[in-house]
Amino acid sequence: MNELRGLILSGGKGTRLRPITHTSAKQLVPVANKPVLFYGIEAMASAGIRQIGIIIAPETGDEIREVAGDGSQFGVEITYIPQAEPLGLAHAVLTAEPFLGDHPFVMYLGDNLLQGGIEDLVSAFRANEPDALILLTQVDDPENYGVAELDGDNTVTRLVEKPKEPATDLALVGVYMFTPGIHDAARAIEPSPRGELEITDAIQHLVDTGQRVEPHVVRGWWKDTGRLDDMLEANRLILDALEPRIDGDLVDSTVEGRVIVEEGATLIRATVRGPAVIGAGARLTDCYIGPYTAIDADVEIQNAEIEHSILLAGSSVRNLDGRMESSLLGRNVRIHPAPRQPRAFRFMVGDNSEIGIL
Ligand code: G1P
Repeated sequence: MNELRGLILSGGKGTRLRPITHTSAKQLVPVANKPVLFYGIEAMASAGIRQIGIIIAPETGDEIREVAGDGSQFGVEITYIPQAEPLGLAHAVLTAEPFLGDHPFVMYLGDNLLQGGIEDLVSAFRANEPDALILLTQVDDPENYGVAELDGDNTVTRLVEKPKEPATDLALVGVYMFTPGIHDAARAIEPSPRGELEITDAIQHLVDTGQRVEPHVVRGWWKDTGRLDDMLEANRLILDALEPRIDGDLVDSTVEGRVIVEEGATLIRATVRGPAVIGAGARLTDCYIGPYTAIDADVEIQNAEIEHSILLAGSSVRNLDGRMESSLLGRNVRIHPAPRQPRAFRFMVGDNSEIGIL
């Protein structure tokens, strides 16, 4: 087999994660303090892939280039492939055709997280040599995904993108393996009702033309991190497997369970109950941090209780009268009591924000 390449899709508008995605790419929102995108790059690197193409959009491409760089931090070589408009996953494949050439490739949606990596799948792809290999998992809301139908011998018979009345609960996971024939399939299909060239339709075209599409049901967990609840769940799943490590300074503080405190973080009279991660340069004073919380670099927390939340770099939370939970704070967000009388709520909040109050 020709050398296997990687294709990561990191365009899209991230509408379901606004307002965070007004200023930052959804693939860069951190899960356990690491951008979602990095999990995909690392999974490819561990599976021995050396050449990775990343599809980027005009709005967020520069930021992604800056953070992921030339790939040397992951031991791979990254080629950035601009896609002028988000015209669908199959359109992204066609956009990447000059980079992919005759190479078989793994395609990974940049906001997806897959437990256990892709090494086993790459081995199966090499050993069985199907024309395509797709991953499936059972979900409660198949109407929000590509949905697969299989026959008795585990052969894929039909794939439908976001069907109103799904025939099964088997959703297509955002990790696919293709041989170069997918390019012709992507050229053969028409845009879907949402105006996109769907990869689901391109794979259906492979099925229709008698090519072999091998289905694998995912064994561990998989998350598409498109929405806040999914982000929080992904954060829980990753934090659950954390290797505890305390490199920061603890002063009169208690740390229980799986907790990482990065070097340069300072905890003063703080209690942290894991799983949790506290980023470099964070300063936590007189506070309680509960399970499933990821606090990124340079966050300041003073006199507050926070649980089951993700706080991005540079944010601060002070003197909260009540516990904050199930929240996602963007970068440099400040939460504190209004400074003077009358005692009232005071907000300065971006478009499409959501605030829950007592
Ligand atoms: C895309 C695919 C869909 C797949 C999903 C997985 O959906 O079109 O078939 O099930 O990713 O995350 P989208 O994220 O574009 O709505």
